[in-house]
Amino acid sequence: MYFFLMDTPLLITATLLACAPMAAFAAQTQSVADASVVVKADSPGAVVAPEIYGQFAEHLGTGIYGGVWVGENSDIPNTRGMRNDVIEALRNLHLSVVRWPGGCFADEYHWRDGIGPRENRPSMINTNWGGVVEDNSFGTHEFLDFCELVGAEPFISGNIGSGTVQEMSQWVEYMTSDADTPMTRLRKENGRAEPWKIKYFGIGNETWGCGGSMTAEFYSDQFRKYNTFLKNYGGNKLFRIACGPSDSNYEWTRVLMEKVGHAMNALSLHYYTLPTGDWSRKGSAVDFEESEWFSTLRRTLMIDEFIGQHSRIMDRKDPEKKIALAVDEWGTWYDAQPGTNPGFLRQQNTLRDSMVAALNLHIFHAHADRVRMANIAQMVNVLQAMILTEGPEMVLTPTYHVFEMYKVHQGGTFIPVSISTPDYVCGDERIPAVYATATMNAEGTLFLSLVNVDPNKAQSVSCSFEGYTVSGVSGRILTAPAMDSENSFEQPDVVKPVAFDGASVEAGSLRVEMPAKSILVLEIESAAK
Ligand code: AHR
Repeated sequence: MYFFLMDTPLLITATLLACAPMAAFAAQTQSVADASVVVKADSPGAVVAPEIYGQFAEHLGTGIYGGVWVGENSDIPNTRGMRNDVIEALRNLHLSVVRWPGGCFADEYHWRDGIGPRENRPSMINTNWGGVVEDNSFGTHEFLDFCELVGAEPFISGNIGSGTVQEMSQWVEYMTSDADTPMTRLRKENGRAEPWKIKYFGIGNETWGCGGSMTAEFYSDQFRKYNTFLKNYGGNKLFRIACGPSDSNYEWTRVLMEKVGHAMNALSLHYYTLPTGDWSRKGSAVDFEESEWFSTLRRTLMIDEFIGQHSRIMDRKDPEKKIALAVDEWGTWYDAQPGTNPGFLRQQNTLRDSMVAALNLHIFHAHADRVRMANIAQMVNVLQAMILTEGPEMVLTPTYHVFEMYKVHQGGTFIPVSISTPDYVCGDERIPAVYATATMNAEGTLFLSLVNVDPNKAQSVSCSFEGYTVSGVSGRILTAPAMDSENSFEQPDVVKPVAFDGASVEAGSLRVEMPAKSILVLEIESAAK
């Protein structure tokens, strides 16, 4: 049995063993376990920034070309070259922010190659992702048009690895200045009279790796120099995101905070969930045993510790938490789908991915005072995607449905919960079985999301409330027949949310009957309304 407050690190046993025999044993012999959740509505925390529900779209595989951009002359219905089905699906997620053009691609991207008449734009080789020829037909104007179509803030990732200070500074001027200069005249010639508002600007990506193989000290000096020449034009104010570490590289955070903490608005963090933890043999997206269901979830939970540690290091220089942690790449990374270009990072998405998405979002909520942006990798057709396309076809993934169900939490106030839960045991390892997160919106409505990661056992959960009088409940559930259930073009609705009728009010508390491997979002009605 675990008892934890959902803003403290989770305790996780760390041995890797196959767990099928134990699971079979458990299914035969154990009765339905009870969990309890206390929702502390009288102790509200930080606002859950809508940007925690951000997306990442890189020039990688069919993430942009085919997935978003099909061109104006395509038979696929489109708006100014962008596919209508994808735009409509994304609008329904209430997208807050989209990061572009990379990733590793950003540090070899030269923005001037992606403006002006498309037939005149030079090509380049996308050396990071499959060595394919990039024709630059999707550039600054197309991306910012896309952001307007889906209703999201743009997050531009600048090239510090192979670009120049002049190039980066002129990009900002081109997009945001209203003065009469060669840059703004060029923008107007290319069809955009008014400057755009650009808030989020990343100064390099993974500069310790594909973004330039720099040391933390060298990058800090580079950041200092580039940042000096990124100006706020007119009413535009850049929110400057420094390239942060991945995983547990705490030394990078220490150096960056020490040297340039005063000049940044946010520090990024990357963490990918690999079922095996081994980059040479990551694990299959669809063909997995329960042991890899378990290890994937266990490894997902590790981000709680990483965020907590990085945040504590940031606290030394920034105890008021003015500098945000932007988890601008996260999600599952499996072996590429057989038969696809391995450089395209195409993978299917199953019920397991929906659990990964939900657990990450719970952890980001719990760290809402520091984590004020997160961008799942990636939006369409790449890694843990919301949407998969193939030619004219489109399918929404289980991860999409979590983002859609959880959108009620965007902008809400974090409400702490304490959870007493049985363990989900796999072999000789265990993690908590039940997870909960709660927020209250501006109208005072409480939303409680619950996850039962145990694929073998239902959970009966009792929820009590401090500072909130419950009068009713409604909600939706996401589950599926199998751990590896997926949505395909042929069967797009295997994993899809439906109305949930397993919750009832009992003397001011809730009783919730959670099926095995399920995710719930509940709207809790208040007697006070
Ligand atoms: O998301 C795929 C890649 O992962 C990104 O380009 C890079 O930043 C990270 O290593």
